[in-house]
Amino acid sequence: MEIIKDIALMRTRCRERKLKGDKIGFVPTMGALHKGHLSLIKRAREDCDFTVVSIFVNPTQFGPEEDFKRYPRNLSEDLRLCEEEGVDVVFAPLKESMYPDGFSTWVEVKGMLTETLEGTFRPGHFKGVTTVLTKLFNIVLPDYSYFGEKDYQQAMVVKKMVQELNIDTEIILLPTVRERDGLACSSRNSYLSPEERKKAAVLYNSLLKAKQEVERGEKDPSIITSLIRHLIEKEGSFKIDYVAVVNPDTLEPVDRIRGKTLITIAAWIGGTRLIDNILI
Ligand code: PAF
Repeated sequence: MEIIKDIALMRTRCRERKLKGDKIGFVPTMGALHKGHLSLIKRAREDCDFTVVSIFVNPTQFGPEEDFKRYPRNLSEDLRLCEEEGVDVVFAPLKESMYPDGFSTWVEVKGMLTETLEGTFRPGHFKGVTTVLTKLFNIVLPDYSYFGEKDYQQAMVVKKMVQELNIDTEIILLPTVRERDGLACSSRNSYLSPEERKKAAVLYNSLLKAKQEVERGEKDPSIITSLIRHLIEKEGSFKIDYVAVVNPDTLEPVDRIRGKTLITIAAWIGGTRLIDNILI
């Protein structure tokens, strides 16, 4: 496995492979790899001839009050996991080379997709994500790029950007990987105290209960959101940012549940913000 920090060298490697006719699979990450990332890597390895994983804690997607400084970083363990999974190249650029002094070019998807849900609570977040991904896609030139459903809104935003900017990569969305009690794998789970960690399982359990209610015939989104809020609040210690029942293509709230629907939540437990969702 090769570890590349230099942007020009990374681009050269990818160009060489493309000229040979190889398919490039790309898993962009911010490191602190967990089972969710590993499932993306495994799939990239199955689909492609050359697998690139980027590890870059992207400063521009964190708000001024957010956890950029304390975001978990463990490069040596990440490299070990990538090696074990048979990754071809880990691309770990420096902040200074991704965002040199005077950097002033931004890629932004406007409208409902970025303004609702996470966009309301994390203004500027998606602009940072789409900017860094445009740069990474331009460097790695991936045929396929892999994302997890846990960050469903991010994947929708990225799909729209790729389509509208004619970026030549296919976005593959894979199911959320969960711990045994249902908690979605996330690098931020490492912030949780043992007590918070136990309580955090309520997020997915409340989504499952909501799904059951819909399957039993409940079609009113406000009853579903109240049920979820009640279950989470009963657990104590949570501060809910949102619970929403939305159209999975547009992320617009629905007034009645029919057809494919996304239920999505974001909540704080102590100093940790967790998100999760379920497609029904
Ligand atoms: O989902 C993430 O880890 C990040 O948002 C991404 C896609 C690597 C961009 O920094």
